[in-house]
Amino acid sequence: MSESVKMKKVLVTGGLGYIGSHTAVALIESGYEVIIIDDLSNASIEVLSGIERITGVLPEFHELDLCDAHQLSSFFERQPDLAQVIHFAASKAVGESVERPLRYYENNLVGLINLLKNLQGRTGVSVIFSSSCTVYGQADQMPITEQAPIKPAESPYGNTKQIGEEILRDVVHADPNVSVVALRYFNPIGAHESAEIGELPIGVPQNLVPFITQTAYGIRERLSVFGNDYPTADGTCIRDYIHVVDLANAHVSALERLIQRKQKQRFEVFNVGTGKGSSVLEVIHSFERVTGQALPYHFAERRPGDVVEAYADTTRANAELNWKAVHSLDDALRSAWMWEQKIRT
Ligand code: WQD
Repeated sequence: MSESVKMKKVLVTGGLGYIGSHTAVALIESGYEVIIIDDLSNASIEVLSGIERITGVLPEFHELDLCDAHQLSSFFERQPDLAQVIHFAASKAVGESVERPLRYYENNLVGLINLLKNLQGRTGVSVIFSSSCTVYGQADQMPITEQAPIKPAESPYGNTKQIGEEILRDVVHADPNVSVVALRYFNPIGAHESAEIGELPIGVPQNLVPFITQTAYGIRERLSVFGNDYPTADGTCIRDYIHVVDLANAHVSALERLIQRKQKQRFEVFNVGTGKGSSVLEVIHSFERVTGQALPYHFAERRPGDVVEAYADTTRANAELNWKAVHSLDDALRSAWMWEQKIRT
């Protein structure tokens, strides 16, 4: 297989998940051949046809658990030219990770290690790792730069992201054939404009925006705002809410940086956000404004583990990835509402 064709094939682990599926769409639209593996533990096989309806391409799919070493090595034996990987597959519920730490350390770290072991011996290996702003804990300064100190993780989930980055840094140091970009996501929200793919939370949503849209649709009685006594302008927590399509596009930009060998170091991290902080109340008011839906909510106790404020300094990502978030909070909330209505019909 020619080098250029080999460079255009990319494995997306967890590619039927929320961010993975939007990234698969962005990759296909950028001319990549996408192969998806997913264990379907937190995704529906229906997402595959959603990707096809958007792009006209049905990606190659394998139902596969990265923790099943035999299954994974059999897959890679059939893919001798595969060297580009975007690794999303992981468990991601912060609260659940506190209750089930071993499941999180096994699924998130054994999965990563099995993946990396199968890439050993290959040349031109490029890995994009799905990391998170949780590695910063409550950062001391806003906006948060990549130089902000890594704080002790607030949850096993956050710890698996910190350890995952350390494993990748060590592998890059040991193996000159491996290059890595870790993307530290802020808060992904919204859905593809087609409403063919979006977020599919299982059970009661833990995250703010899906809880808002389910409340607006009448599935939830009212939104509990977890604390309005924080040291912020309106007393509610501040986050950097980034449209999932902007986040997906950041992965395409990072892959191009890796393939075109534009890295300054073979292990790089980038904060991927909008650079703008929004409070919970601002999100609620924005949602009501763009949808015309009144949102019933009340103030409740603070949620343990929440940081007061987190929004990104995107200077490096903008400059080095030649990427910038282009969707507004209103765009993202409008798309989230369109998606909620679509899946309920
Ligand atoms: C945002 C704000 C809540 C729900 C987490 C993970 C992070 C990433 C994104 C995986 C907070 C408030 C929420 C509700 C509320 N996950 N809230 N009522 O906690 O910033 O980030 O999800 O990659 O790693 O840590 O996102 O959406 O849960 O909360 O008031 O019903 O909304 O207190 O201030 P969070 P979130």
